[in-house]
Amino acid sequence: MPSAAGAGAAGAVADRLLGPKERRRLAIVLVGLPARGKTFTAAKLTRYLRWLGHDTKHFNVGKYRRLKHGCTQNADFFRSDNQEGIDARNEVAALAMDDMLSWMDEGGQVGVFDATNSTKLRRKMLLTMAEGKCQVIFLETICKDPAVIDQNIRLKIRKSPDYADQPDYEAALADFKARLVNYSKAYEPVDEGSYIKMIDMVSEQDGQMQVNNISGYLPGRIVFFLVNTHLTPRPILLTRHGESMFNLNGRIGGDPELSATGDIYATKLASFVHKRLKSQHSASIWTSTLRRTILTATHITGFPKVQWRALDEIDAGICDGMTYEEIKETMPDEYQSRKLDKLRYRYPRGESYLDVIQRLEPVIVELERQRSPVVVVAHQAILRSLYAYFTDKPLDEIPHIEMPLHTIIEIQMGVPGVQEKRYKLL
Ligand code: F6P
Repeated sequence: MPSAAGAGAAGAVADRLLGPKERRRLAIVLVGLPARGKTFTAAKLTRYLRWLGHDTKHFNVGKYRRLKHGCTQNADFFRSDNQEGIDARNEVAALAMDDMLSWMDEGGQVGVFDATNSTKLRRKMLLTMAEGKCQVIFLETICKDPAVIDQNIRLKIRKSPDYADQPDYEAALADFKARLVNYSKAYEPVDEGSYIKMIDMVSEQDGQMQVNNISGYLPGRIVFFLVNTHLTPRPILLTRHGESMFNLNGRIGGDPELSATGDIYATKLASFVHKRLKSQHSASIWTSTLRRTILTATHITGFPKVQWRALDEIDAGICDGMTYEEIKETMPDEYQSRKLDKLRYRYPRGESYLDVIQRLEPVIVELERQRSPVVVVAHQAILRSLYAYFTDKPLDEIPHIEMPLHTIIEIQMGVPGVQEKRYKLL
């Protein structure tokens, strides 16, 4: 294990010494007491960055600890005066950091290093290990709201492998609370290097974010993303427009109206939405700027409607308005190129799926920011891309995701893990 002593170069200085390749690599090192939402934040950030095409991996030090020491450590293991415990925990943290740095050597770009990292000594050790290899940003999650902490503790006891073999809930609760006290005694908030502090941002409207010594495109995007995310539970309903006249004869793109079946779906969708969201004080309906989505939402009343150009269907360029058969016959090379790499293929004078994902980024941030339900009425390629974000699908799978007509996909936001329900209305 590397020594923490002599880790003199604090983040800022160390970052300036990095070469261009190392500067591209970024370690987001979580900091915070247990039950402060670190793993949730780490998982969410990892999902977002992967979706944007950055090779990102979540390293959970708890998993390393359990592999090396089993799942049965009680609160004593985490005492601040238990040198054996401290050494054992530092050792597994160093193992995870080593793995993360090796993964970066093989091409990985952003490592999200998930542990409490709650003492200066531990963080110094990590900075020493990362020196000259990658940029380090500490991401500290501070939560003072007892109700949120309590909820996190309960979730932890139900879900964590640390308590899977403890059938007595009260005993598990007492042990975890003792672990928390032990960590609190040694806790030192971050005031070194580059850092982002999220303070009571979980569900409070008046949370705070502090940012120190952060610069560059990707760190900037990360701050922007985090400032907009929260844990308020609310549903997002995703649906394609009702069947269009183009769908009837297999034509792509264009700006067609709905078929008779599409009209029926619009009516059914409205009664579904009214019933599903009737108890909500606010909600909003988002469509693209194309007629088939606007018409599909036409019977939904009582909620504001927003048209987003970013939600318009993938631009098929010179193929717009054609059938797949016509493309195959008249532009066989284009047809074949798309078949070979549907994610990266860009229609001549049009877009690729990767282009679509880039333009949907503000939509994702806005969906994260909303605290009330949103109904998104959009198109096949658009919904595949949005759905992939919520379900953490690999980029290459996105163009092949099933996205049937006349079906609502409800995603529950603000809860750990993905919860999805589907309603087929026709
Ligand atoms: O066919 C309906 C449609 O929305 C077209 O407008 C669009 O080009 C297509 O789906 C996207 O799906 P794919 O990427 O599978 O061609």
